Amino acid sequence: MNHLAKKYDAINLSQGFPDFDPDSRLIDLVTKAMHSGYNQYAPMAGNMELREAIAKKYDVLYQSSYHPETDITITAGATQAIFCAISAFVKSGDEVIIFRPAYDCYEPAIALNGGKTISVTLDGPDYQVNWNTVKEAINDHTKMIIINTPQNPIGTIFSEKDLLQLQALTKDTNIIVLSDEVYEHIVFDGETHKSVCLFPDLKARSFVAASFGKTFHNTGWKVGYCCAPKALMDEFRKVHQFNVFCINHPTQKALADYLNEPDHYLELPGFYQKKRDLFLDLIKTSRFRFTPSKGTYFQLLDYSAITDEGDVDLAKRLVKEKQLASIPLSVFYNKEINNNVLRFCFAKTDDTLKRAADIINTI
Ligand SMILES: Cc1ncc(COP(=O)(O)O)c(C=O)c1O
Repeated sequence: MNHLAKKYDAINLSQGFPDFDPDSRLIDLVTKAMHSGYNQYAPMAGNMELREAIAKKYDVLYQSSYHPETDITITAGATQAIFCAISAFVKSGDEVIIFRPAYDCYEPAIALNGGKTISVTLDGPDYQVNWNTVKEAINDHTKMIIINTPQNPIGTIFSEKDLLQLQALTKDTNIIVLSDEVYEHIVFDGETHKSVCLFPDLKARSFVAASFGKTFHNTGWKVGYCCAPKALMDEFRKVHQFNVFCINHPTQKALADYLNEPDHYLELPGFYQKKRDLFLDLIKTSRFRFTPSKGTYFQLLDYSAITDEGDVDLAKRLVKEKQLASIPLSVFYNKEINNNVLRFCFAKTDDTLKRAADIINTI
């Protein structure tokens, strides 16, 4: 879609990245770190100041303790955290449960390690998890369950009840939980993010994968991190050490300084809620139907009142004929499915959102 968007000079609401810059203070902090000697390898697990700042964030936000020495590793984006956690535990013949529609990096990592992906399908328009279906999917081969809250591409969030169900289902098993929480700070309408770390039994078996790219508007820097109790993190680091060894050092130092000011992430829900609300207000008289996204910076739009085309066909046609790029929801499933839904990214300037809305209102 990015490729097509470029080719047709379309407004690009497809891939998930901001079309605005990160805070110039953060950029200055990277420059400062480069001039202050942070130009050689960082420690394998990451710059200690950054790990300490992350530990502090978990204490403040979730009253949950991760030890910076043993429980936190800085990674090349959440993607590498996810790859390392899967590679550390999933072996040939193991099964990994994921919830579809799902972000695209889980299944290839599972397959590369000889594992088998077991997909639990979430159905629109609510995309709620039926925990009985999950229970039925669990067997002796189940090594891992991957969750993603808030969930890309559908903009849903797991409730406390969901996490308690997951905790109950995995209690007294050897199942590892990998919780992709890259949108933890992008939750709307007064809801709070429910991290696995809030549930002690669940935390004991869980990895949390997180991304500074989503939180500080710098997806191109590819810095993220992973938290888990020591026993799990020891295994994770055996992969991380020979996968990348360590991550870009000056950005880690800059992120440590920046993260120590909590407003930088506490303001994020309000910032993105304004964008979501602006976008939805601008298109409220369009022929698309929607339920406001509860989290992430993605909004699903249902086009069933407009056409009965497949979502891939429609997405392509909108790029070519209307110069507007989105992502068809069906590509996040592993089977033929058409919910008549397109995903739009609203991590864009107000001007971009207005220009996109002008097009949407003509469809
Ligand atoms: C759900 C989800 N997980 C992980 C990632 C990857 O994060 P990063 O860019 O930090 O590797 C993304 C990026 O879009 C995502 O949406």
